Amino acid sequence: MKFFADTADTNDIRELAEAGLLDGVTTNPSLIHKAGRDFLEVVAEICKIVPGPVSAEVVALDHAGMMREAEIVRKIADNVAVKVPLTIDGLKTCKALTDDGTMVNVTLCFSANQALLAAKAGATFVSPFVGRHDDNGFDGMQLISDIRLIYDNYDFATEILVASVRHPIHVLESAKLGADVMTAPPSVIRQLVRHPLTDKGIEGFLADWAKTGQKIG
Ligand code: E4P
Repeated sequence: MKFFADTADTNDIRELAEAGLLDGVTTNPSLIHKAGRDFLEVVAEICKIVPGPVSAEVVALDHAGMMREAEIVRKIADNVAVKVPLTIDGLKTCKALTDDGTMVNVTLCFSANQALLAAKAGATFVSPFVGRHDDNGFDGMQLISDIRLIYDNYDFATEILVASVRHPIHVLESAKLGADVMTAPPSVIRQLVRHPLTDKGIEGFLADWAKTGQKIG
């Protein structure tokens, strides 16, 4: 399963990329607001740090407007994936862009039927929001399981990009269900590293090592 960071914070992105943990990045207008940076500038910087797909979202709601914005966004770098909402205009834009060789991430997916439409429109990625799904009394991971089944039934090439990931269990379940990608905030990716027995083990080894009185090098 590929790991994307769901952030526009370039310090976090750099650190995770240096650890070899990043296959891509997703941003959205709220994350750009949080970063307090110019949209085109920050996306360009992220694209240089991470060679994999970097999602940059258009904000127009009509097809012509989305295409206009996508023209600007896709010129930033070859690894930009234009992010469009799961609406008819978004799907139309998705089809036009992917036909033209541009990666597209269809976002704000909350049902398996919507994911089916995204695949039919040729999406590179579909982003089901599991956390927001859970928040509203639905089962986010069941949604991933349903989409996996449907995509496998018909050999769709669209990658399932699990989004709105809130905790390590979402990551574990996504991997078990065979999601192609998960995107998580850097804090959740860092949580995956930690285990109390790892810390305890290091503590014990260091204590015994000190007793040997030796040094390496
Ligand atoms: C995905 O691409 C979105 O940026 C993201 O995962 C949204 O997550 P949220 O529900 O935490 O805002």
